[in-house]
Amino acid sequence: MSSGKPQKPTGSTAGSSSSEPELQDNLSRLDRLANLGLIAASAAHEIKNGLVAINTFVEMLLEKGEDLEMAGVVRSELRRIDSLVTQMLRFAAPRPADQSSVNVHHLLDHSLRLLEHQMAGRMIALKREYRAIPCAVRGHESQLQQAFMNLLLNAVEAMAGGGELAVVTEIGVAPSGVRRLKIHIRDTGSGIAEENLARVFDTFFTTKKNGTGLGLAICRRVAHEHHGELEVHSEPGKGAVFIVSLPVD
Ligand SMILES: Nc1ncnc2c1ncn2[C@@H]1O[C@H](COP(=O)(O)OP(=O)(O)OP(=O)(O)O)[C@@H](O)[C@H]1O
Ligand SMILES: [Mg+2]
Repeated sequence: MSSGKPQKPTGSTAGSSSSEPELQDNLSRLDRLANLGLIAASAAHEIKNGLVAINTFVEMLLEKGEDLEMAGVVRSELRRIDSLVTQMLRFAAPRPADQSSVNVHHLLDHSLRLLEHQMAGRMIALKREYRAIPCAVRGHESQLQQAFMNLLLNAVEAMAGGGELAVVTEIGVAPSGVRRLKIHIRDTGSGIAEENLARVFDTFFTTKKNGTGLGLAICRRVAHEHHGELEVHSEPGKGAVFIVSLPVD
């Protein structure tokens, strides 16, 4: 579908004094590392869920007194894996102290600055319409930035032949009365085929040669962890819009 993936990082290391393109490469490598942290955390969650089911089954076998020795071995191995995964989760999960009041407009500006170079190279025009007042949400700044970067990068990648990237914010009121800050990230790129629309948030779903298919899965997870939502609308051939909505701080 879309082409023109930004160049993969090559030999340079993050933190070295670097030219603009190298800086972009290093940043996207850092993005991927941050993604890995989140993936490790979600993998740990999945493993834990699986362990609960297996553990119940083994306990049942032990109660019935069938194959006691085997079941005993399985149980002790299960305990070992469980404590390993618990440690992984403790390590990977952001601590509550990391939560702060995050100015979404500042964060968007910051992310857009990191993409300036790529956008200029692809003849992509930027339209910013920040209408949300207030513009703060409570959460993990680095995770939110990661989510915005993933969405913005996808938009840029979808516009190989140039186009317009619009970043619009507004305050919406949910039926429950809760005020939500909505961030629209809209592009005029390739759009998403109808049959793919329901799959774009799936882990590892990608139509790109070098894609991991993790970007949107992570974005949605970050939105949910902030008690928010992430939705998509697209008209194939005309572009796509991703809308993040988060409770106002
Ligand atoms: N703005 C967009 N326009 C068109 N298609 C999109 C857009 N955003 C996402 N997609 C589609 O959704 C798929 C999944 O996106 P996702 O960000 O999860 O992974 P990726 O971009 O393919 O890989 P990665 O993010 O790891 O580089 C993409 O491969 C693409 O087909
Ligand atoms: Mg992506």
